[in-house]
Amino acid sequence: MGNYQNLYMEKYIINGGKKLSGEIAVSGAKNLALKIFPAAILSSQPILVKNVPEIEDIQRLIELMEDLGAKITTQAKGEYLISTEEINKTKLRPDLVHWLRSSIMLAGPMLARFGEITLTHPGGCVIGQRPIDLFLEGFQKMGAKMIDNGADYTLQAKKLRGAKIILPKISVTVTESLLMAATLAEGVTEIKNAAMEPEIVALAEYLNTQGAKIQGAGTPVITITGVKELSAGEFEIIPDRIETGTFTILGLITNSQIKITKCNPEHIENLLYTLNKAGAKLDIGPDYIITYPSQLHGANIVTHEYPGFPTDLQAPFTVLMTQAQGISLIHETIFEGRLFYTDILNQMGANIIMCDPHRVVVNGPTPLYGRKVASPDLRAGISLVLAALASQGTSTIENIYQINRGYENIVPRLQKLGVDIKQINE
Ligand code: EPU
Repeated sequence: MGNYQNLYMEKYIINGGKKLSGEIAVSGAKNLALKIFPAAILSSQPILVKNVPEIEDIQRLIELMEDLGAKITTQAKGEYLISTEEINKTKLRPDLVHWLRSSIMLAGPMLARFGEITLTHPGGCVIGQRPIDLFLEGFQKMGAKMIDNGADYTLQAKKLRGAKIILPKISVTVTESLLMAATLAEGVTEIKNAAMEPEIVALAEYLNTQGAKIQGAGTPVITITGVKELSAGEFEIIPDRIETGTFTILGLITNSQIKITKCNPEHIENLLYTLNKAGAKLDIGPDYIITYPSQLHGANIVTHEYPGFPTDLQAPFTVLMTQAQGISLIHETIFEGRLFYTDILNQMGANIIMCDPHRVVVNGPTPLYGRKVASPDLRAGISLVLAALASQGTSTIENIYQINRGYENIVPRLQKLGVDIKQINE
């Protein structure tokens, strides 16, 4: 059992107002790594994964998979060899599920390869209701039987079969789960109104190198022809587009020239378009972004599934707009609980009015002041770090487990840029 619960006691102390300089390299995408590990279950042969971010969510996933009987060894930094040949259990450990919403990603591969999975309702970020109805419905369409045991659910299927599935709502993890399950199902599966995120394209490309037959990933209709088995595989996780966007905002909010390297700017085109409209000075290369001190003015955003403005960059962008001249309307359409952190920004000096749980208006610029605050979730958490950097004085950020869940070694990486941040344990 890990000692991650202790992270509840750890906090960041940040002194704001400093200019930054230098380079920061982007890590592998959390939201792809969290799918590639479960996808390894689809094959009885070993899978080598490279450029895996060293984050708490991945550690919880490894613990969950090892508990099922998987053997996961680390070769070098960020490199893992996964063997699922000896999986001998089909029930996920409830205490670990509680820490990781992505534990649901194990359901599709477990059902497809072993015909059974038992899981409790997953935990993770508290950013709305986050139901799992569409996963359950999709698996049932593919022939799985669901048993409600009260405290948990068991899904069973001797052999999944292809199905025509229309998603009533675009969902990233549902698309990925059904896509993975369908690779080993009997017959053809069609997923309509599928999500189109770059991580889904990468997942499908990877599985195809192992012998899967997936067409249309990156479009709203994905067709999967089931195959009997998948071979061994080797994958390299693509750069994290949310880190890329967050670091771009970091450079702008501190009025600094910094270079963000090892990234793919094409994956954050919508953010870059909006920043350009807001007056940001950026130099964008094939795999880097350089930020320059910029006079920003207010800009509006509406979060939307890819290629729209990503909900995961909504909070960092909102913090940036507190320092921009004029009014910005932020419309969060994906999650209903993802704007409440703006209350904390107001305590730090922002002038943000909540119109309803999905919309806020930011009046900028207002000076921000260091405060003692707690991170409500991953993306709001990193946004409080950004706010602390734009503040006068010292901020203390508690509940940083939520930040370490998704940003690798963030303290030393920020320190290298000149950020005055330290982690303490009390
Ligand atoms: N939804 C349902 N029923 C379901 C599943 C989802 O109604 O069974 C709804 C959700 O409540 C939400 C909408 O569908 O209103 C879209 O949610 P989606 O399922 O796309 O989100 P997700 O798959 O749970 C992934 C990322 C999130 C990211 C969203 C949107 C992973 C592990 N998580 O979540 O990442 O915000 O897509 O892009 O891929 C994060 O990294 O901080 C994070 C929360």
